[in-house]
Amino acid sequence: MSEWNKTSWQNFEALQQPNWPDAEAYQNVTETISLLPPLCFAGEIRALKAQLADAVEGRAFLLQGGDCSEDFANCTAPGIRENLKVILQMAVILSYAGGKPVIKVGRMAGQYAKPRSSDTEMVDGKEIPSYRGDMVNSPEPDEAARIPDPERMLKGYHLATATMNILRAFTKGGYASLERVHAWNNEFVKRSPLGRSYERLARHIDQALNFMRVVGIDTNTPQFNQAGFYTSHEALLLGYEQALTRQDSITGGWYDCSAHMLWIGDRTRQLDGAHVEFFRGVGNPIGMKVGPKHDIDIVKRIIEKLNPENEAGKLTLITRFGCKDIEKYLPKLVREIKRSGYKVVWSCDPMHGNTYTSETGLKTRNFNEILQEIQCFFEISWAEGTVPGGVHFELTGENVTECTGGGQNILDQHLLKNYQTHCDPRLNNEQSLELAFQIAEMIRS
Ligand code: PEP
Ligand code: CO
Repeated sequence: MSEWNKTSWQNFEALQQPNWPDAEAYQNVTETISLLPPLCFAGEIRALKAQLADAVEGRAFLLQGGDCSEDFANCTAPGIRENLKVILQMAVILSYAGGKPVIKVGRMAGQYAKPRSSDTEMVDGKEIPSYRGDMVNSPEPDEAARIPDPERMLKGYHLATATMNILRAFTKGGYASLERVHAWNNEFVKRSPLGRSYERLARHIDQALNFMRVVGIDTNTPQFNQAGFYTSHEALLLGYEQALTRQDSITGGWYDCSAHMLWIGDRTRQLDGAHVEFFRGVGNPIGMKVGPKHDIDIVKRIIEKLNPENEAGKLTLITRFGCKDIEKYLPKLVREIKRSGYKVVWSCDPMHGNTYTSETGLKTRNFNEILQEIQCFFEISWAEGTVPGGVHFELTGENVTECTGGGQNILDQHLLKNYQTHCDPRLNNEQSLELAFQIAEMIRS
């Protein structure tokens, strides 16, 4: 294999890259970003990798989630806080009821670029470039707004740093304290059956904390008052990722410091493609999406390339088959990967294989199908003797109506009520909590 450096990906074909119309402007922006500070540092990235190594063995559980695509306009303290809050709520449900440490990874602080199935779309009889995420162009259905603008990459960098900054403040500054589990419960969810189950669990945690104090344990420590929280996004725009790839002064290794964890999408994981080339050289934990169109031998060769040392925690396989197809694909895949001795975290993305278009023409996903895919994921893992190590969701803390079903029984005709996403449909707060309670049962059994 030829030598890796942070630009060697440029010798390979990179799919799903925008057609930046002004090459010079693009060059200037990537150079500017390459001189700006990284978003995270190598020590944190290694700490996440060590925790993921525990998830390989079943000693921890990975919870990864957030928007399908972060919206520049939602980069506000309340917007970020709501998404963080629902992840913290899910994590206490999973860790308290499921009984395992939960590794919290947001699709946050940089999830701004999207792969698309088509370069263009038809709007009012006119063919215009597809929306590729706020870091590339604007979702507005207008030809001029859809022209890729590299300045958006720079803006994305700055908004990602602002997001990272407030996430660090929230998670380290007291907001994520276990004293506050009640306060994370949203007003609109509180009075629902789910909200009440959550309140009950929060009371149990209060009692446990109180008991510890009674017997003399000091609860005024980081374990009780701070949350570990990591960031991730689909590493799609390789120019951006390259600009944030830095050499660690302690170990000399290279890390992509745009986020702690990066994943390669189902559409860009070609064995001889630029994305796999780029990510074989960085020390970050890497996720790889695997959908129905995979070839097991190719998946194995990609694993060899991305993780030649077979280091536990380095690689997470995020399967996304859909509830109807998971039985057909997952058993063979886990069996073969297990037989080959590869150490991976198995994570289930029950979102991307279950998308359909509702009668109203909106893209949606059904709660029961999402739950069913997770249930199958656990059952297949148990049957094959592998570890169901995590889940990957598109969700928001807002009271949106984007996925059907769940406690509020959202129907197709209700979707328009509060359908906000520019990309894929997300679980709302209540649906997310409901899934967390169900998954906790599965983890415990
Ligand atoms: C995503 O996670 O938003 C995504 C595009 O997923 P996939 O690559 O699995 O289609
Ligand atoms: Co998506």
